[in-house]
Amino acid sequence: MTQRILFVCLGNICRSPTAEAVTRDKAAARGMTLALDSAGTGNWHIGKPPYGPMQEAARIKGYDLSMLRARQVAQADFTQFDLIVVMDKDNAEDLTAFGPPDRVKLFTDFAPNSGADYVPDPYFTRDFEGALALIEECAEGLLDVLGSYSTQD
Ligand code: 4NP
Repeated sequence: MTQRILFVCLGNICRSPTAEAVTRDKAAARGMTLALDSAGTGNWHIGKPPYGPMQEAARIKGYDLSMLRARQVAQADFTQFDLIVVMDKDNAEDLTAFGPPDRVKLFTDFAPNSGADYVPDPYFTRDFEGALALIEECAEGLLDVLGSYSTQD
Protein backbone atom coordinates (compact mmCIF):
# COMPACT_ATOMS: atom_id res chain seq x y z
CA MET A 1 0.00 0.00 0.00
CA THR A 2 1.20 3.52 -0.77
CA GLN A 3 2.49 5.21 2.34
CA ARG A 4 1.09 8.69 2.93
CA ILE A 5 3.43 11.16 4.61
CA LEU A 6 2.79 14.77 5.57
CA PHE A 7 5.73 17.09 6.35
CA VAL A 8 4.94 19.91 8.75
CA CYS A 9 6.77 23.08 9.77
CA LEU A 10 5.64 26.50 10.99
CA GLY A 11 5.11 28.51 7.81
CA ASN A 12 5.07 25.80 5.06
CA ILE A 13 7.30 28.03 2.91
CA CYS A 14 10.82 26.82 3.85
CA ARG A 15 11.47 23.49 5.58
CA SER A 16 8.41 21.32 4.95
CA PRO A 17 7.98 22.06 1.22
CA THR A 18 11.71 21.37 0.83
CA ALA A 19 11.31 18.10 2.75
CA GLU A 20 8.39 17.18 0.48
CA ALA A 21 10.27 17.89 -2.77
CA VAL A 22 13.54 16.29 -1.62
CA THR A 23 11.80 13.15 -0.34
CA ARG A 24 9.74 12.91 -3.55
CA ASP A 25 12.86 13.05 -5.74
CA LYS A 26 14.83 10.64 -3.58
CA ALA A 27 11.90 8.20 -3.41
CA ALA A 28 11.57 8.29 -7.20
CA ALA A 29 15.33 7.61 -7.52
CA ARG A 30 14.81 4.48 -5.37
CA GLY A 31 11.73 3.43 -7.33
CA MET A 32 9.52 3.96 -4.29
CA THR A 33 5.99 5.36 -4.62
CA LEU A 34 4.85 7.55 -1.74
CA ALA A 35 1.99 10.02 -1.36
CA LEU A 36 3.63 13.18 -0.01
CA ASP A 37 2.36 16.59 1.03
CA SER A 38 3.36 19.40 3.37
CA ALA A 39 1.58 21.92 5.57
CA GLY A 40 2.26 24.56 8.20
CA THR A 41 0.92 24.90 11.72
CA GLY A 42 0.58 28.65 11.04
CA ASN A 43 -1.77 30.35 8.58
CA TRP A 44 0.29 33.37 7.43
CA HIS A 45 1.40 32.04 4.06
CA ILE A 46 -1.62 30.03 2.85
CA GLY A 47 -1.61 29.87 -0.96
CA LYS A 48 1.94 31.22 -1.29
CA PRO A 49 4.82 29.45 -3.09
CA PRO A 50 7.92 28.48 -1.09
CA TYR A 51 10.14 31.37 0.04
CA GLY A 52 12.39 32.66 -2.77
CA PRO A 53 15.81 32.06 -1.15
CA MET A 54 14.71 28.54 -0.14
CA GLN A 55 13.54 27.79 -3.70
CA GLU A 56 16.86 29.09 -5.04
CA ALA A 57 19.02 26.98 -2.69
CA ALA A 58 16.94 23.92 -3.64
CA ARG A 59 17.04 24.72 -7.37
CA ILE A 60 20.85 24.84 -7.31
CA LYS A 61 20.81 21.27 -5.95
CA GLY A 62 18.27 20.15 -8.57
CA TYR A 63 14.98 20.33 -6.64
CA ASP A 64 12.01 22.21 -8.09
CA LEU A 65 9.75 23.70 -5.40
CA SER A 66 7.97 26.16 -7.69
CA MET A 67 4.63 24.33 -8.02
CA LEU A 68 4.12 23.92 -4.27
CA ARG A 69 1.68 26.17 -2.40
CA ALA A 70 1.42 26.63 1.34
CA ARG A 71 -1.53 25.35 3.31
CA GLN A 72 -2.34 25.00 6.99
CA VAL A 73 -2.58 21.67 8.78
CA ALA A 74 -6.15 20.37 9.15
CA GLN A 75 -7.73 17.88 11.52
CA ALA A 76 -8.37 15.57 8.54
CA ASP A 77 -4.61 15.23 8.01
CA PHE A 78 -4.52 13.01 11.09
CA THR A 79 -6.64 10.38 9.34
CA GLN A 80 -5.48 10.99 5.76
CA PHE A 81 -1.76 10.49 6.44
CA ASP A 82 0.00 7.47 7.95
CA LEU A 83 2.88 9.55 9.26
CA ILE A 84 3.27 13.25 10.08
CA VAL A 85 6.92 14.35 10.09
CA VAL A 86 7.74 17.59 11.92
CA MET A 87 10.85 19.77 11.69
CA ASP A 88 11.10 20.72 15.37
CA LYS A 89 9.52 20.11 18.76
CA ASP A 90 7.49 23.33 18.58
CA ASN A 91 5.80 21.97 15.45
CA ALA A 92 4.93 18.79 17.37
CA GLU A 93 3.52 20.81 20.25
CA ASP A 94 1.54 23.12 17.94
CA LEU A 95 0.11 20.05 16.18
CA THR A 96 -1.60 18.89 19.37
CA ALA A 97 -4.25 21.58 18.62
CA PHE A 98 -5.15 19.66 15.44
CA GLY A 99 -4.98 16.00 16.45
CA PRO A 100 -3.41 13.28 18.59
CA PRO A 101 0.40 12.88 18.74
CA ASP A 102 0.56 9.13 17.95
CA ARG A 103 1.58 9.34 14.29
CA VAL A 104 3.85 12.40 14.66
CA LYS A 105 7.64 11.91 14.28
CA LEU A 106 10.62 14.30 14.30
CA PHE A 107 12.42 14.39 10.92
CA THR A 108 15.88 14.45 12.51
CA ASP A 109 15.15 11.16 14.30
CA PHE A 110 15.69 9.56 10.89
CA ALA A 111 19.24 11.00 10.70
CA PRO A 112 20.84 10.03 14.02
CA ASN A 113 24.36 10.52 12.63
CA SER A 114 23.64 14.19 11.87
CA GLY A 115 23.78 15.07 15.56
CA ALA A 116 20.83 17.43 14.96
CA ASP A 117 17.69 17.17 17.07
CA TYR A 118 15.66 19.55 14.92
CA VAL A 119 15.83 21.24 11.51
CA PRO A 120 16.73 24.90 12.23
CA ASP A 121 14.40 27.36 10.51
CA PRO A 122 16.34 29.04 7.67
CA TYR A 123 13.73 31.81 7.49
CA PHE A 124 15.37 33.01 10.70
CA THR A 125 18.93 31.54 10.52
CA ARG A 126 19.31 32.42 6.78
CA ASP A 127 21.29 29.17 6.35
CA PHE A 128 19.25 27.75 3.46
CA GLU A 129 22.06 25.46 2.22
CA GLY A 130 22.56 24.01 5.71
CA ALA A 131 18.84 23.35 6.12
CA LEU A 132 18.72 21.68 2.71
CA ALA A 133 21.72 19.44 3.48
CA LEU A 134 20.14 18.30 6.76
CA ILE A 135 16.78 17.73 5.05
CA GLU A 136 18.53 15.58 2.42
CA GLU A 137 20.12 13.47 5.15
CA CYS A 138 16.82 13.09 7.03
CA ALA A 139 15.02 12.15 3.80
CA GLU A 140 17.52 9.37 3.06
CA GLY A 141 17.07 8.02 6.59
CA LEU A 142 13.28 8.19 6.35
CA LEU A 143 13.34 6.32 3.03
CA ASP A 144 15.67 3.68 4.51
CA VAL A 145 13.08 3.03 7.24
CA LEU A 146 10.09 3.05 4.85
CA GLY A 147 11.94 0.83 2.38
CA SER A 148 12.72 -1.70 5.07
CA TYR A 149 9.00 -1.88 6.01
CA SER A 150 7.88 -2.51 2.45
CA THR A 151 10.36 -5.33 1.89
CA GLN A 152 9.02 -7.04 5.04
CA ASP A 153 5.40 -6.98 3.75
P1 4NP B 1 9.19 27.38 7.80
O1 4NP B 1 9.80 28.86 8.02
O2 4NP B 1 8.43 27.03 9.06
O3 4NP B 1 10.38 26.53 7.60
O4 4NP B 1 8.29 27.52 6.59
C1 4NP B 1 9.02 29.97 8.36
C2 4NP B 1 8.69 30.87 7.39
C3 4NP B 1 7.95 32.00 7.73
C4 4NP B 1 7.55 32.20 9.02
C5 4NP B 1 7.87 31.29 10.00
C6 4NP B 1 8.61 30.17 9.67
N1 4NP B 1 6.82 33.37 9.38
O5 4NP B 1 6.59 33.57 10.57
O6 4NP B 1 6.45 34.13 8.48
